[in-house]
Amino acid sequence: DEFEGEGVWRYSAALPFEEGVSLPEGHTPLHRVPRLEEEVGVRSLRVKHEGMNPTGSFKDRGMTVGVRVAQEVGVGRLACASTGNTSAALAAYGARGGMETLVLLPAGKVAAGKIAQAALHKARILEVDGNFDECLDIVQDLADRGEAYLLNSLNPFRLEGQKTIGLEIMEEHYEDYGEYPDRIVLPVGNAGNTAALYKCFRELVKAGEITEEQVPKLTGAQAEGAAPMVEAIEEGNDETRRWEEVETRATAIRIGNPVNAPKALPGIRETGGTAVAVSDEEITEAQRDLAGEGVGVEPASAASIAGLRKLRDRGVIEDDESVVCLTTGHLLKDPDAAAEAGNDPEPVDNSTEAVLDLLGEN
Ligand code: F0G
Repeated sequence: DEFEGEGVWRYSAALPFEEGVSLPEGHTPLHRVPRLEEEVGVRSLRVKHEGMNPTGSFKDRGMTVGVRVAQEVGVGRLACASTGNTSAALAAYGARGGMETLVLLPAGKVAAGKIAQAALHKARILEVDGNFDECLDIVQDLADRGEAYLLNSLNPFRLEGQKTIGLEIMEEHYEDYGEYPDRIVLPVGNAGNTAALYKCFRELVKAGEITEEQVPKLTGAQAEGAAPMVEAIEEGNDETRRWEEVETRATAIRIGNPVNAPKALPGIRETGGTAVAVSDEEITEAQRDLAGEGVGVEPASAASIAGLRKLRDRGVIEDDESVVCLTTGHLLKDPDAAAEAGNDPEPVDNSTEAVLDLLGEN
């Protein structure tokens, strides 16, 4: 393959194959955000922008591995339930691999950019009158009956690929600062990334690459209207209670039954991290602040910055910490949310004079 050894596949030693079905993915920027860093008040703040992957989210890192596995197994139909990004990535990687894809989406709750991607990459799209968790119940049933190969984050091969987020962060942070980050703050839905990062760090410790003390504190951020992980952390539970009613502007993380909670909750606890719930208003403010530094993200992604800010205010995160926030999806994924949060276009007459009038220069 022309992309052998690039991005995610640079870390093939940590993956089940030498190469995958690739576009290629990974090698995303670790942005500096000096104004936010100063305002929040931490020693250093970097933003790992996973929206810069080929289909605009971190899901590509999992799909390059997962779809390769599906090819090996020789399955006919790939399927997922999705709040949008997984369906976009599965459709693109399925197309790349020459396979048929089926996606189940919660009707009316998926951002426009994501549906457009799934549609153009030729997924069969079923809109379910229900939420994401119910879509996932159905897809699990289909997989159990042998009707489809499941590519949600319950598929362990997806998480293998997503481990490379952690490897890239550790490597680049060390290059820039001569030390590993103290903490990683990430948006949490199904808790797949949280589980993947924890596995990544355990493997690094086991291989003698880092010490236990050097493992970053895994810190999850959820929307207030969909926060079963925060509830479990606050109550000290080993599993989450399923929330039947969920709502948030950050539709990507509108999830009430995080299927990876059993793997992710120990990761948060054992690294000394925590989980925090943020309001839609706080998410919007963080989305604007990131955009003000040139970093365009979808609402769910901004939950990481909103979570960091809240935990700094509460004194949970200290001012001498080095922090990496994960932003999981691109601004263009949800153009409606961006338009709503941003400046309004102003109509103007078709002349230079009219423009100058409007600018107050006449
Ligand atoms: N951020 C974005 C932009 C997402 O799309 C998702 C999950 C998450 C965060 C949560 O990640 O599940 O690893 O905790 N989106 C899935 C989807 C559910 O269907 O696209 P997680």
